[in-house]
Amino acid sequence: MHPAIPGPRGWAAVSTILRLRRDPLATLIDLTHRYGDVVAYRYGPLSRVMVNHPEGVVRILQDNHLNYNKNSPFYHMLKWFLGEGLITSDGELWRQQRRLIQPAFQRRKIEAMAPMMVASTEALIEGWRGRERVDVVEEMVHLTLRIIGMAIFSQDLSHKSHAVGQVMEQLQRQMQRRFQSFFPLPPVFPTARDRHFRAIKVNVRLLIDHLVGERRRQSNPPEDLLQALLEARDPDTAQPMSDLQLCDELVTLLMAGHETVANTLVWSLFLLSRHPDVRRRLEAEEEGIADRVVLEALRLYPPVGVYGRRSLGPDVLCGYPIGAGQIVSIAPYVLHRHPEFWPNPEGFDPDRFLQERPRGSFAPFAAGPRQCIGNHMAILEARLVLTALARQVRLNLVPGAHVVPDPQITLRPRGAVWMDLEFF
Ligand code: HEM
Repeated sequence: MHPAIPGPRGWAAVSTILRLRRDPLATLIDLTHRYGDVVAYRYGPLSRVMVNHPEGVVRILQDNHLNYNKNSPFYHMLKWFLGEGLITSDGELWRQQRRLIQPAFQRRKIEAMAPMMVASTEALIEGWRGRERVDVVEEMVHLTLRIIGMAIFSQDLSHKSHAVGQVMEQLQRQMQRRFQSFFPLPPVFPTARDRHFRAIKVNVRLLIDHLVGERRRQSNPPEDLLQALLEARDPDTAQPMSDLQLCDELVTLLMAGHETVANTLVWSLFLLSRHPDVRRRLEAEEEGIADRVVLEALRLYPPVGVYGRRSLGPDVLCGYPIGAGQIVSIAPYVLHRHPEFWPNPEGFDPDRFLQERPRGSFAPFAAGPRQCIGNHMAILEARLVLTALARQVRLNLVPGAHVVPDPQITLRPRGAVWMDLEFF
């Protein structure tokens, strides 16, 4: 006999729902403190089990991954925005697409993007000359949009007049708003807001079709992610992906590939500003420190704060029974603060990454077959941007700033984060 999964019952369950809505991160942490590493709770109409132990994380994402898919309301909603690209697809479609797209993310190809990433950062810094203060949230979103645009289309989509950049920003804003709602419904109603949203979605697709059409007519195309996707052939059937599939994958890569990295950079800059000792080591270009700063920022503020799966059949996680059809969630924000695996969990200590850690204790990019395809790109990009910044300018959080995470689809800070610029 397995014990039942602990969790709030009765009035405590109701108050948990309310607290989750007000302050989800603190509430999830509190649930693990009260009930342990596997907690059953409700959010709205759904029961969820949060698994907060490396052993359970490895079981879900790796050892028994075939028993879990993404058939949950969250991914259904996301599908409405992103179509059936790599993030939202499942089963055979996902397997085929991952096999087609994976070669485009080979280490060698990602590393070839380095000069473009550095040049983009230097152009950003040039644009800052003569300014005293910037909102790093806006600046990093702008920079990472430029980098992902260059990586995929060899075009600067962040340019103020670039329609894709504008529409991507609107899409992001609308998605945030939808997911905030308690019972998120897809925008299918005849209200002005839903109509506006549907128009944005159509626009994103029209613009991407336009960029793809332009590329197909080009006689000497650049070697970028779009070209790799256009040239990819299924090893069994020798078929390219359909135009519709290509569009879904491109929207997915654009969305997944910039806001997450922007958040990593904002949190890194925030932490560095609060820890001048570490910042000095970065400015002195100490070997490996930039990577460790990025990892530590990803530990404390994982851009994807929570992700989930649905079980297909029964399983046992950390000694507790999981029924078929159960939604299980992994919250890197909470997992990365597990005191057993992360001593002084709230402290900023990049050097902790000099030591080995148990498998499954650090999962900002998930793990196993559905691990983030852009993880190397993200880490390279964040490292190069931080290093390029540290060579020319110091960013100091303005006095009295109150920076707190705002858990939306990605974990960004609430509002703007103003920093004073100190050029060397
Ligand atoms: C610091 C930056 C990033 C973080 C923290 C991050 C995190 C994640 C996480 C947690 C997942 C799994 C989501 C789930 O299971 O539902 C994921 C999947 C994915 N990410 Fe990232 N990501 C980052 C950057 C990127 C970049 C730069 C790209 C592309 C250029 C990208 C593309 C994707 C794709 C396509 C998937 C789906 C993979 C699959 O299921 O096959 N991500 N990412």
